[in-house]
Amino acid sequence: MNYRQWSRRQFLQHTAGAAGASLAARSIWLEADPITALPRSAPSDRVRFGIIGVGMEGTGLLSTAIQLPGIECVAACDLYDGRHQHAKEIVGKPIHTTRRYKELLDNKEIDCILAAVPDHWHKQVVVDAANAGKDIYCEKPMSHSVNEGFEMVAAAQKSGRIVQIGAQRTSSVLCAKARELYQKGAIGELCLVEATMGRNDPTGAWQYPPPPDLSPQNLDWDTWLGTAPKKPFDPFLFARWRCWIEYGTGVAGDLMVHLISGMNFVLGINEAPKRASAFGGILRWKDGRNTPDVHCVLFEYGNIPVYVRLSLDSETPEVTRFMGPKGIIELTEFGVSFKPQAGIDQSPSYYVASFPQKMREEYFSKWHQEHDPKPGEALTSESVSYRGPSYDDLQPHLWKFFQSVRSRRPVYQDAVFGNHAAIACHMANESYYRKSPVTFDPGNKNIEA
Ligand SMILES: NC(=O)c1ccc[n+]([C@@H]2O[C@H](COP(=O)([O-])OP(=O)(O)OC[C@H]3O[C@@H](n4cnc5c(N)ncnc54)[C@H](O)[C@@H]3O)[C@@H](O)[C@H]2O)c1
Repeated sequence: MNYRQWSRRQFLQHTAGAAGASLAARSIWLEADPITALPRSAPSDRVRFGIIGVGMEGTGLLSTAIQLPGIECVAACDLYDGRHQHAKEIVGKPIHTTRRYKELLDNKEIDCILAAVPDHWHKQVVVDAANAGKDIYCEKPMSHSVNEGFEMVAAAQKSGRIVQIGAQRTSSVLCAKARELYQKGAIGELCLVEATMGRNDPTGAWQYPPPPDLSPQNLDWDTWLGTAPKKPFDPFLFARWRCWIEYGTGVAGDLMVHLISGMNFVLGINEAPKRASAFGGILRWKDGRNTPDVHCVLFEYGNIPVYVRLSLDSETPEVTRFMGPKGIIELTEFGVSFKPQAGIDQSPSYYVASFPQKMREEYFSKWHQEHDPKPGEALTSESVSYRGPSYDDLQPHLWKFFQSVRSRRPVYQDAVFGNHAAIACHMANESYYRKSPVTFDPGNKNIEA
């Protein structure tokens, strides 16, 4: 069974693909990069991994990773015993399972780690893995706070281990095509970016059903809480941790981090925004959560405004638009298009409607003399659209990680890149909670009001 087959994204891809067939008559299909054999290195041509956290996303990571050639899972760790059984079912052969991730870090048979634990555990798992000499793929957003992010960067740099963060867009052919168009100057000087997405269903708003048998007997609840404030066992908190800032990072860290990582990749940005100003609220899902279900953020990257709109209250397509005087590159979930714009007057200025008749006619006549194209020289423009696999492209992203584990070549979405994307999310949250604009000071490594 393919455990990702019922994922939100695949469902949307299926329906969008069906709808798009009649709409996108002149689109170009982009092929995913081929999965070729791993570079070989003695003593084994296999890469053996252990996984920490086999919940919703860990399920997808594990079932995707074991389908890659030369990649093998040898151990799985989770604090909930039900997920030990689940991991064995996915792998389909005996593997070591445990509640203690340090057993995986001490296991010499394991080359690298995949980690899909809640956000408040990312830092500790990454730092421990790097210090134990293990390469690690850790889910997004990289950190739960700005301080943690810098601690993770330091651990990655000191240990020299490969650390890849799991915002898959940087490995998607769609983002690569948008990046190529941008780098070729398709839109001219970038003037504005806007990125939007919205959901409208309880599951999309994180109201997940807890496993019915969950209990303090089969879950190590104290360890699950980690450094968060102590609380009595709560199965809803276990399943819906995203709703609370003590464990998650809100829609900013859960969803916007994908938009920001994709944007940074397309534009070649590897820095945090200078400023952020956010507005929003808990307008619909009043279930006790403390993170906003509508979050609108205006960032300043260099001198470029970047506007992001996230909602769990109304469904809207995921779109990122890169805008400049020569046109717009539009990146959607299953396609990228370029719509050129001339950026010049194509008819006399409508301002002259305010001129008296004689003056207006003289202006028209001069305008046409100077601007009308000679026969055969009229400007034409053609929009191009490319369709392809989803931009949240997990398989190539995992493959890049495993290739780097073997080749020791650096990954694109390393700890520094992941930290910059995560800082944008923390700024969005800080501004929302403080109700004031915030800036990021790279010198002090601080968010300031
Ligand atoms: N890249 C993506 O598209 C994507 C999609 C969904 C989730 N995610 C990310 O994946 C991470 C996990 O999310 P999820 O939805 O799978 O959460 P989840 O709650 O479904 O699963 C997390 C699992 O981690 C286990 N766990 C927690 N702390 C642990 C520890 N210290 N040691 C061992 N196991 C531990 C829990 O018991 C649980 O089974 C999050 O950071 C989330 O942001 C990424």
